[in-house]
Amino acid sequence: MSKIYIFDTTLRDGEQAPGFSMSIEAKVNFARQLAKLNVDAIEAGFPVSSPVQFEAVRQIARTVKGPRILGLARTVKADIKAAADAVKSAKKSGIHTFISTSPIHMKHKLRKTPREVLKIAVESVKYARSLNNFVEFSAEDATRSEPDFLKEIISRVIAAGASVINIPDTVGYSIPEEFGSMISDLISDVPELNDVIVSVHCHNDLGLAVANSLAGVKNGVTQVECTVNGIGERAGNASLEEIVMGLDVRKDYFGEKATQIRTEELYPTSRLLTHLTGIAVQPNKAIVGENAFAHESGIHQDGFLKHAQTYEIMKPEHVGRKMSSLVLGRHSGRHGLKKRILELGYKLNEKDFEYIYGRFIEISDKKKEVFDDDLIAILNERVKTGIELYKLDYFHISSGKNMVPTATIKLIKQKQEFKESAWGDGPVDAVYNAIDKIVGLKTKLEDYSIRALSSGQDAMGVVHVNVKHNNEVFPGSGSSTDIIEASALAYLNSLNRILVLKKLNHKR
Ligand code: KIV
Ligand code: ZN
Repeated sequence: MSKIYIFDTTLRDGEQAPGFSMSIEAKVNFARQLAKLNVDAIEAGFPVSSPVQFEAVRQIARTVKGPRILGLARTVKADIKAAADAVKSAKKSGIHTFISTSPIHMKHKLRKTPREVLKIAVESVKYARSLNNFVEFSAEDATRSEPDFLKEIISRVIAAGASVINIPDTVGYSIPEEFGSMISDLISDVPELNDVIVSVHCHNDLGLAVANSLAGVKNGVTQVECTVNGIGERAGNASLEEIVMGLDVRKDYFGEKATQIRTEELYPTSRLLTHLTGIAVQPNKAIVGENAFAHESGIHQDGFLKHAQTYEIMKPEHVGRKMSSLVLGRHSGRHGLKKRILELGYKLNEKDFEYIYGRFIEISDKKKEVFDDDLIAILNERVKTGIELYKLDYFHISSGKNMVPTATIKLIKQKQEFKESAWGDGPVDAVYNAIDKIVGLKTKLEDYSIRALSSGQDAMGVVHVNVKHNNEVFPGSGSSTDIIEASALAYLNSLNRILVLKKLNHKR
């Protein structure tokens, strides 16, 4: 058996795509799930890019056990130092540094000659190695690079100490056959590649990211970089679940190459990401889409019922599509709730559990059945306790046709009550204006989305917002059977995060 390493970059390449930014606690939460999925490496973020990014990588490195934790760095000393500092407490850590090697990037983006790029790459890898003994080097835009220059830079950075060489198809330009031969040429022409991990990182601009990555595996790479649900820059990255199941289902084609992924965790991981980002996958998405295992047409159903393999190439249970839909009701009690929370993979301290229990009781008062999705929503909305935060105590809105929507709000912070009223373009705007009057932060609402979690009139609604403050985006989410309340909770969740960060920065 030869092992194919799975390097997950959901929290870096995935999270940097517009609309996918996550809070620190959401990132830590997701990284824990990645460890459960058993990925080999987690690229936890780009530490130098912001204090939030740094803190998220640092907390993941400190708390998530199992996979190697890496931070991204340009070939710039400050980036490399920040990445090294952020990952240093992980048992297995690493620095991923990159520079463009294609003529178009070197000339127009970097404004450097190939000789200068070569020198910077070698010096950066040496510097990174002086801070951490696991260094990955990526030749950005490798698929549009001159083959001879690419081979030269690869062999020089290996000599400088790189343990992984990553070949990205940065702009999703390659075609599988062509990408496969490029990999095979590199491996045969650069003998040093036999001593390191050879990796691919493909983008999906032509819808070929998974096909290109699998062509890489077929031609000898030992690591694939990918993201859950295929999220990432522009059209996204290669989808982790598709790569893993492609290798699993087509063992006959790929031979003895296998990942160590726990496939039953694929669906729960995809669902968790949807919850944390508020962005669902399309229904026909392979492996994790709503319809991926649904047989609608009569002919298909008939065949499927006679013999499942007529229309099913993998079992839904094998990818974890068996979450029980009905969970708990008002009378399930603390014990039942605790048990289900553990089954869903969350570990809570007593204080957080009491918060969740309180929210669970509130929700089960309003709706008879609490589903897994409802529970996950409130689990993900909880904010860190122990810090002064505003809590929603009361709100009243008045809205209708031909009238000005108004809202009155009461918030509580450290037992102190704050009341304000405001008007707005709609009831949500009025609520947000009243909250702004109390909290007094200068912010801009960048995104607002609302989604129903289950069917029926009493379904919970989940609101996701992205709020900009000082050029940084702070996501927030809130859930309730009342959409105005969910909207208020999401907004407060985000403002509280800004306040928490201000405190952290103040302490530094
Ligand atoms: O797409 C890309 O080239 C990247 C590199 C940083 C590996 O994301
Ligand atoms: Zn990328």
